Amino acid sequence: MLLFTYYGHAAFALNNAKRKLLFDPFFTGNPAATTAADVITCNYILVSHGHGDHLGDTANIAQKTGATVIGCPELLEACQAENGHGMNIGGKADFDFGSVYMTQAIHSSGIPGLLSCGFVVSMEGKNIYYAGDTALFSDMELIGKRFALDCAVLPIGDNYTMGIEDAAEAVKLLKPKHVIPVHYNTWPVIQAEPEEFKTLVEAETTAKVHILRPGDSMDLSELK
Ligand code: NI
Ligand code: MN
Repeated sequence: MLLFTYYGHAAFALNNAKRKLLFDPFFTGNPAATTAADVITCNYILVSHGHGDHLGDTANIAQKTGATVIGCPELLEACQAENGHGMNIGGKADFDFGSVYMTQAIHSSGIPGLLSCGFVVSMEGKNIYYAGDTALFSDMELIGKRFALDCAVLPIGDNYTMGIEDAAEAVKLLKPKHVIPVHYNTWPVIQAEPEEFKTLVEAETTAKVHILRPGDSMDLSELK
């Protein structure tokens, strides 16, 4: 089992039978959130950058659960993580669930000296790329060459990140088998129609797009 659970905006979890990884846990103040910071459990928290809609409840959840926070050193410092694993872009590290490779992202970070990042998580024999908040960049092609991506989690909401057209171009560079769109419809400024993204991607690539509503889960281990 490799369960992907979408909590709304860019917050989601990946878990197997033993370990749960939480990504960009923005619950408090998130109009799309389907759970709350004080009830969520996890073993690891991966944070892409310091903006409030990503760093979110990291400090509180880490303190309450004792989870290890994985992120750039400047981010770990900002959230005063007691258990932190600092990484930087281009680095890969092994954990008890698999491995994490940190990728670049083209986006401001909200914290002086901190670069925004994305992650490729290898777990249960699958490679999952979470782009974080980013513009389209041509080196996405290198990420797709380095890892045979089973699933790419991409922002499509435009304004702050890639919109639908650029995210569809990203799929062409990354060549994942499956795509899950995130970071849209939380607020009017990032309104996007995921069906439009799905139609475009599936017309122009072989990737399948899975539109999850906040609260939905999907077992990635069953994807072909
Ligand atoms: Ni951001
Ligand atoms: Mn964001």
